[in-house]
Amino acid sequence: MNRQDRTDAARRRFLVAATGVVGGVGVGFAAVPFVASLAPSARARAFGAPVQVDFAKLEPGQQMTVEWRGKPVWILHRTPQMLQTLAKIEDRLRDPQSLRPQQPLYCRNRHRSIKPEFLIAIGICTHLGCVPTYRPDVAPEDLGPDWPGGYFCPCHGSRYDLAGRVYKGVPAPLNLEIPPHRYLGERVVEIGVDGKAA
Ligand code: FES
Repeated sequence: MNRQDRTDAARRRFLVAATGVVGGVGVGFAAVPFVASLAPSARARAFGAPVQVDFAKLEPGQQMTVEWRGKPVWILHRTPQMLQTLAKIEDRLRDPQSLRPQQPLYCRNRHRSIKPEFLIAIGICTHLGCVPTYRPDVAPEDLGPDWPGGYFCPCHGSRYDLAGRVYKGVPAPLNLEIPPHRYLGERVVEIGVDGKAA
């Protein structure tokens, strides 16, 4: 499979998986229904309208994917252990302080989010645009004994931590992009609009 084919395949996987939820640490891989009542119409999405998402049912360790401007946007509910890991691996990251403008200013912190436990990131690899896979498992056989959980891009092997920060020594040059967003409620977010909690 050539590079373009791999990129197309990864995008197709996103389209199939859009609005799905995958389980993470301690919760298994369970699909749960996506709450669609707040989703805008297809026509509104096509014009890049903000997307409101209620993720009240997202358990610690689970991640869901929604679509905004035709892109996959991940919402990850990080566990306390995941948050602790973010501080321990910064010497392995290319831009641990998020100095490059890949996020709104209000997300320029270690966890790259408004609320530490929730990561909201665009799930597109900053190398050539594949969709990385969510790999929260620690030290899996294929990623090695020092893998602390994160995102792995199957196209050319780029790695990101659970804040979307890219590792050194991989093809991807930048951290994953964090979209503008604001909270409308405890677990309701609007993606595509800047601001902190309303
Ligand atoms: S697209 Fe090349 S490593 Fe992700």
